[in-house]
Amino acid sequence: MGRKCYVTDPIAEIIEENNIDLILTCGPEVMMRRVLELANEKNIDLQASLERKMKCGVGLCGSCCVGKENDIAVCKEGPIFSKGQLTQFPQFGSYKK
Ligand code: FES
Repeated sequence: MGRKCYVTDPIAEIIEENNIDLILTCGPEVMMRRVLELANEKNIDLQASLERKMKCGVGLCGSCCVGKENDIAVCKEGPIFSKGQLTQFPQFGSYKK
């Protein structure tokens, strides 16, 4: 029943039909990657909540790190990251639990 599509397809339509200032996203990272692409296409600000496997939860063990040099601990500096920060994470969109 209903429409069969990727969840990002209606998001693109909603963005097109409304005046959106900010997108807040969470969920599968591959989906958030597409939402980031849509936000970039329309120059809309975005914040995303990242999930990583965490051990220490205080920025010591490195198990949740992201960034070009894996130097940003999601547990300590996140889990919410801005559009500008996300574009600095080459692995954003490829992480799977
Ligand atoms: S859980 Fe250890 S650094 Fe984030």
